[in-house]
Amino acid sequence: MKQRLQRIWQRWRRGRSEPRWLWAIASLVLVLAIALPVWSQQPVKVRTMMQALEKAQWQSMEAAFEAENPDIDLEIIEAPNDTNLVEDLYTSAFLLGDSPYDLVYLDIVWVPKFAAAGWLLDLSDRFPEPERDPFLEGDVDGGTYQGGLYRMPFRSDGGMLYYRTDMLTEAGYEPPETFTELIEISRDLQAQDIAEWGYIWQGKQYEGLSAMFVEILAGFGAFWVNPDTLEVGLDAPEAIAAVEFLRSTIDEGISPPGVTTYAEEETRRLFQDGETVFLRNWPYVASLAADSEIAGQFAIKPMAHLPNEASGACQGGWGLGISATSRHPDEAWRVAEYISSEAAQKAFILETGYVPSRRSLFTDPDLVAKYPYYPQLLEVVENSVLRPPIAQYAQTSDILQRYLSAALTGRMTPEAAMQAAARETRSILNRD
Ligand code: GLC
Repeated sequence: MKQRLQRIWQRWRRGRSEPRWLWAIASLVLVLAIALPVWSQQPVKVRTMMQALEKAQWQSMEAAFEAENPDIDLEIIEAPNDTNLVEDLYTSAFLLGDSPYDLVYLDIVWVPKFAAAGWLLDLSDRFPEPERDPFLEGDVDGGTYQGGLYRMPFRSDGGMLYYRTDMLTEAGYEPPETFTELIEISRDLQAQDIAEWGYIWQGKQYEGLSAMFVEILAGFGAFWVNPDTLEVGLDAPEAIAAVEFLRSTIDEGISPPGVTTYAEEETRRLFQDGETVFLRNWPYVASLAADSEIAGQFAIKPMAHLPNEASGACQGGWGLGISATSRHPDEAWRVAEYISSEAAQKAFILETGYVPSRRSLFTDPDLVAKYPYYPQLLEVVENSVLRPPIAQYAQTSDILQRYLSAALTGRMTPEAAMQAAARETRSILNRD
């Protein structure tokens, strides 16, 4: 048998006339013919980047998306939690040229800058007018720039006042409506040793400081920049009074001195650890605090204000834009469309307690069963205060953060700080 096989082999070798290289090419073609269909079935990678806290919370949604769309691999790169650090990372990527991100997970305040720089695709045709109706107006408007639409709204946001129901009940107080009530209750609960601190807010020099401050400005009847006329209101007496109010919370020991270094997460932890009666933060805190030692002992309400003024909730929120340099805009769009869908938003919100961008979800029975305050939240976010939607927003906010921080840490008086901030802002806005 063995000999027979050898004979066949030798006969075959003798009879073979093709040169070796031809065989090499034939084998390569064969390998490619088998491998190419396998390669082309590899999912397309669609990349984005977001804050670490949220990346973890996207896990189930990401898995559900990939299960329904096996041809797309959604890759989420983790970034720090402060919004302007994420903005800086995206900005450097775009300035370097070919951004590695197909999708930009955009804070509402970045839209004018990113759109004006030409870093995003106009989504107007993919997301035409009638399809925008079910979304909150502020979230859609916040995604537009000079008539184009650059961001699919995913989750909305609005600043709120959190308070400890048990502490207020113990001391016989109703939740405060005015700044004066907020201070008086704080002072009394601290004096009675019911609370360590009265009021905690985001005082670090970053975007969260500007977001928090527009609420205090609104409550004092002041404004930052009028987007239509570019008028600057920071040195008006009401705006200076707003800074004096914040500064007084530190001077009087109602807020800890460290408040000038806190971003959202530091303030959330202090609230959850039972350190304060009042907290200014976004709605995401509610579901996390519901799992903490203060569970069932807190509630939220609109921010305090002067007796003759109204509450202002800062309009925040996040959504997806498609990078102008993406090689996979269609696949990127499918991700943006998916996360904005009612079903995906609902599942995400049930898990995390973020604020929907679709109006119908605020009264969805399953969501209201879990978050009874959602119908009230709709009113708050529908009447929110915008940070000025202008292309120079990033520089304008930098100026405000710098001078506010100087005033809050005692390096400048509120008056001198706001006068300097107003001057610099005017010169930026009049330059273009
Ligand atoms: C929240 C808001 C965002 C804001 C940021 C400030 O993430 O949604 O709009 O800029 O807080 O820290």
